[in-house]
Amino acid sequence: MFGPTKSLEGVARHAAGQSLAKTLSWPHLIALGVGAIVGTGIYTLVGVGAERAGPAVILAFLICGLVCGCAALAYAEMATMIPAAGSAYTFSYVALGEGIAWVVGWSLILEYSLACSTVAVGWSGYLVGWIESAGVNLPHALLVGPHGGGIVNLPAVAVALAVMGMLIAGTRESATLNIVLVVIKLVALAIFVTFAAPHFDAKNLHPFMPYGFGSEGKHGVMAAAAIVFFAFYGFDAVATSAEETKNPKRDLTIGIIGSMILCTLIYIAVAVSAIGALPFTALANSPEPLALVLRTIGQPVAGHLIALAAILALPSVILVMMYGQSRVFFVMARDGLLPRGLAKVSKRTGAPTLITLLTGISIAVVAGIFRLDEIAELANAGTLLAFIAVGACLIAMRRKAPDAVRLFRSPAPYLVGGLAVAGCLYLMASLPPMTLVRFILWNAIGLAIYFVYGRRRSEAAVEARAKR
Ligand code: ALA
Repeated sequence: MFGPTKSLEGVARHAAGQSLAKTLSWPHLIALGVGAIVGTGIYTLVGVGAERAGPAVILAFLICGLVCGCAALAYAEMATMIPAAGSAYTFSYVALGEGIAWVVGWSLILEYSLACSTVAVGWSGYLVGWIESAGVNLPHALLVGPHGGGIVNLPAVAVALAVMGMLIAGTRESATLNIVLVVIKLVALAIFVTFAAPHFDAKNLHPFMPYGFGSEGKHGVMAAAAIVFFAFYGFDAVATSAEETKNPKRDLTIGIIGSMILCTLIYIAVAVSAIGALPFTALANSPEPLALVLRTIGQPVAGHLIALAAILALPSVILVMMYGQSRVFFVMARDGLLPRGLAKVSKRTGAPTLITLLTGISIAVVAGIFRLDEIAELANAGTLLAFIAVGACLIAMRRKAPDAVRLFRSPAPYLVGGLAVAGCLYLMASLPPMTLVRFILWNAIGLAIYFVYGRRRSEAAVEARAKR
């Protein structure tokens, strides 16, 4: 009904010169996961969440943690059953058919690219604030896009292009540097909690839910959840590296579930410390809420340190997201849904150079021109669709291939898959209507490309025709 599917056996078979090198093991994957997950979401969007939900932003983090926990279990089972690059896209190809896989892949391209652009813009804000606080005046026109009265956000463009260069230099080097950046990011959050927690005042948690639960207007717990959801994803980028792991069973299970649990615990600790230390109205919409908390409680040095950590470490989020993006694009091209010439792997690094180049430049252009919150919301829409598909894949494969080897089996798969699908649908419905319109437009363009180009040229379609 949704086009041809790939067989479980065939999915790991690739043309010579089009397989990715196996260079990663689980410490790299946890670092990739935490590297992608902890970023602008907790460093910046916790303030936007507080503005939308009040102290109940803590509840918004919990809701997202629960939904993403279910999605992570589904990802882990699918990734160890189908250890091939492409994550949600490849799972959907096997479980649900090519048409759905295309929509998921096209949405993943949106997710990864816009998440990179979002973090690049957030990073630029921290950098500019840091430099200007030292008394250096920078030309406004080169610091923001046209929406803010400037020409281009040059620092955001620069960081996106720099990360692209690292990826082109080779996966292993990038993953190792990523570990150092992850450590910096986690130490900074630990410092934050250490200084902020002693200032916890229960009065700051009342009223807990000043705007109610739903997402009417721009306020409410679900409106906040639809934004802080950004803080949680990234673990799915680990699943995209399945083909490059040395021991998929052990490495992916530890990588995906471990990074998810670790990050949820960190977020709850940071959110409770921040909300407990200051009235939520003080945090609302601050471009640097964690540094603000530390300065306000009389810890300016710690405040500078956390800002510096953000400047040093946020590029690791871009690194993982860009990595995931280039891999999804790579697999779609290898499958014939996008031009195959794009899927050539460099002999020296084992990485798809041309795709990484195209991806990096597009991310830099978006980061240079567009507004942060709008990019983040659209990235969330793409991610939610991918998570819905993976929850559905978990259920579909338990029915379609109940006896297939699963190196990791999710507990209560129907409940877990169902919760992932229903939770993500609810989060998606809580996004602003304009974001949903843009998301539908993006997929309408995608489907037009599919029907004009990919549907006839895809490997699965060619094989299906040959069999007739
Ligand atoms: N989860 C990532 C972040 O918060 C995308 O930056």
